[in-house]
Amino acid sequence: MRRVFVLLAVLCVCDGVRFGQLCSGNSANSQRTSDKWGRGNYGARRGDRLHKGLDIVCSDGSIVYAPFDVTLNGRVTVYNDPTKAAINSGINLSGQGLCFKLFYVQPDRTSGMVRAGQRLGVMLPMQSVYPGITSHIHVQMCDRSDPTSHF
Ligand SMILES: *[C@@H]1O[C@H](CO)[C@@H](O)[C@H](O)[C@H]1NC(C)=O
Ligand SMILES: [Zn+2]
Repeated sequence: MRRVFVLLAVLCVCDGVRFGQLCSGNSANSQRTSDKWGRGNYGARRGDRLHKGLDIVCSDGSIVYAPFDVTLNGRVTVYNDPTKAAINSGINLSGQGLCFKLFYVQPDRTSGMVRAGQRLGVMLPMQSVYPGITSHIHVQMCDRSDPTSHF
C-alpha cells in the first residue's frame, strides 16, 4: 500500500514542471515587464507578429544555469540579421519532458547533459544591440506553446 502511494506522488510531479534559477543575479526568475523595446510576456506584440516566448531578466555577462537536469540538443541561431551578430546565439534543451530554447546565451557546450543549477553558458551583450532594453533570456518552447505556467 505504502509503495503504491509513493509511486503516485512521483507521477504527479510531472504535471507542474517549474524552472529553477536561469540567471545569476535573478534567483526569482523575474520576468521582463515593459521597456522602450516592448514587453516580455508571451503573446506580446512585435510589429505584425506575436512574441512566442517569455523573457526572463538577465544582465549582460551573467552566468546562465540549467533550470533542471537537461540534455543539450545543439546551438540555436536566433537571427539572420548581421547587425545582431553579437547576440545571435542560443541553445536547444530538453528535460522534465519539455523541449525548449534559450536565446541570447553563449553556450559552454552544445551536446551532452548538464545538471540542475550547473552552468550552461553566459548571457550575451544585449545592450550593444538594444540599448536601454531590460536584458533578458528568451525562453521559447520547441512547439511554440506558452511557457509561462512553468515559472
Ligand atoms: C530541438 O532539439 C530537439 C531534439 O533534438 C529537436 O527535436 C527539435 O526539432 C529542436 N527544436 C527546434 C525548434 O530547433
Ligand atoms: Zn523574447
